[in-house]
Amino acid sequence: MSKLSVLAYIFGAVFFLVSCSFAIFYGYKVLSHDLPIEKKQVEKYNYHIVLVPEELDNDYWRLVEQGAQAAAKDYGVMLEYVGPKQANIDNHLKTIEMSAASKVDGILTQGLSDEQFTPLINKVVESGIPVITVDTDAANSKRLAYIGTDNYYSGFLAGKALIQDTKGQANVAIITGSFYANHQQQRVKGFQDAVQGEKGIHIIDVVESEISRVHAAEKAYQIIKDHPEVNAFFGTSALDGIGIAQVVDKYVKPGKIYIVGFDALPETLAYIRNGTINATVVQEPYEMGYRAVKMMINLIQGKTVEPIVHTNTRIMRIVDLPVSNRYRMEESN
Ligand code: BGC
Repeated sequence: MSKLSVLAYIFGAVFFLVSCSFAIFYGYKVLSHDLPIEKKQVEKYNYHIVLVPEELDNDYWRLVEQGAQAAAKDYGVMLEYVGPKQANIDNHLKTIEMSAASKVDGILTQGLSDEQFTPLINKVVESGIPVITVDTDAANSKRLAYIGTDNYYSGFLAGKALIQDTKGQANVAIITGSFYANHQQQRVKGFQDAVQGEKGIHIIDVVESEISRVHAAEKAYQIIKDHPEVNAFFGTSALDGIGIAQVVDKYVKPGKIYIVGFDALPETLAYIRNGTINATVVQEPYEMGYRAVKMMINLIQGKTVEPIVHTNTRIMRIVDLPVSNRYRMEESN
């Protein structure tokens, strides 16, 4: 062997040994450091449950998540909150599918539409993973239980509040989160049924916001322009009332147009205090999240649960706020 080939051989061997040690070192780091931390977390918990909402970054859903996380902490469950950042049916369905594929112990989600959600929910349940619908039911699916508002009744309550507050005289525009979602349809139907017998109440238009505050505001603006006779709005999802209120505040005058909205998010309460939103239908998102996790644990443990649990729903107006809390919005700015 020439001197040169010996040198090349030694160099090659050293290079090989160094690469091996790097590979072993980093391989060890990944396996023994990064992965085991996650693994340890999983192992610490009794069950792995996912909550898939229609929109992650939605203040209403953050409350559902808070409730679910509190129950998860109390009962030693790992709760993952995953789904589309902004409402998107395909992403929503894909997240449910991926959660099922990763063999979680249970899935909490909405049953937004029968057409798209029922077949998927059935497939997941048939594969042995329990599904509970939260907030929105897919009543015709094989979901094991539903916990949330009675959506028809909540729309009915909104209609009755509007009749009472407008003395049965109003030209109403409805801004709904989605034409296709079960709960939004039920809220609209409940409202329509409540006002049906009232001769002085006319529903002028029903439009969709895609649960976006910006779209709700754009639609409200357009309605006010196209239908000057509209003097009342009903917003059927959490951000609709806020979007409508922004427009009424800016381009009309607080209190000039009657607004009944949904939910009691901080912005909604601020608009109630300044007189722009007259009434809102209060749901119990935290309670839904907390109890949904408890129900899921019971199901996983083979216990029976009530198939339909309706959380409380009520109307809130300014008089229902604690007096100390009724200050005007300008004062808080
Ligand atoms: C509904 C949720 C919806 C949210 C949108 C709430 O009123 O119950 O299903 O995702 O509004 O902002």
